[in-house]
Amino acid sequence: MMMVVTKKILLCWSLPIYHPYRTPNALVDEFDLFDNDVGHIVGEVAATHPNGGTGWSGDLMPFPWWIGTVGEAVSLIGYERNADRIPATFYAPVLRNMNRWQWAVTIVQFAADPRLTTRSTSWYVWELFAAHPMTHTLPAEGEFDPLYYVSGTNEDKSSYIWKGAVYNTTNHENVSVSISFEGVEAGRKAALTVLTNPGGDPFAYNDPHTGVNIVSKDTVFLSAGDGGAFEFQLPELSVAVLDTDYESACKKKK
Ligand SMILES: *[C@@H]1O[C@H](CO)[C@@H](O)[C@H](O)[C@H]1NC(C)=O
Ligand SMILES: *[C@@H]1O[C@H](CO)[C@@H](O)[C@H](O)[C@H]1NC(C)=O
Repeated sequence: MMMVVTKKILLCWSLPIYHPYRTPNALVDEFDLFDNDVGHIVGEVAATHPNGGTGWSGDLMPFPWWIGTVGEAVSLIGYERNADRIPATFYAPVLRNMNRWQWAVTIVQFAADPRLTTRSTSWYVWELFAAHPMTHTLPAEGEFDPLYYVSGTNEDKSSYIWKGAVYNTTNHENVSVSISFEGVEAGRKAALTVLTNPGGDPFAYNDPHTGVNIVSKDTVFLSAGDGGAFEFQLPELSVAVLDTDYESACKKKK
């Protein structure tokens, strides 16, 4: 095999590689893992076992499932907060042939029968985060847990972006969110996209054999209120992106 390696990639290859296959709770615990660490490539990451579960021949989940997907979102937000030192993150593995496989937890399932092609719950989170790239992260003030977040700008689009995930809340209550960016005034518009699992079962997953998608994706348009703050509520076990690049979100919604 021939490989062309640019200087930039060589630099990346010299970084340590991290492969976290974890429970949802462990992915949430690792939110701040890279805050004071050397650079890494997160070579493979996935929620693979239910909380309390262990062992590859034990209680491995058959497909990505909702609470695991939210755990991945929390870790991904932790990596993006440290984007100066985490240049790349990969889900692993990506494709699973339902007729014959060696590894259960993959982001997309397929088979000879195209009706079995299935986007997992995790696909929706990775697709949403990838669709809103930041060129620069911004310092974020406030508490984390149960809401984990990162904010930044996309200087090519002059937009402000915020990504958040809500893990377990007290008494399953909603979390009230208020976001202000320096320089954003009242009346500025933003698109807020929220991923939820309306059925409420944290173990729910997208099963290729039933074709049911348990993930709900809703986009609403918000206007910044007094002081330029965007205010909204997020339910327990949800993932959200707010982006002031409102026009491209409008086009995508049509
Ligand atoms: C969050 O809730 C799930 C049940 O939905 C439970 O398994 C898990 O242990 C909880 N995590 C924490 C950190 O309390
Ligand atoms: C929780 O927030 C959702 C919007 O994300 C809203 O539809 C729902 O009514 C809220 N529930 C309560 C009890 O406020």
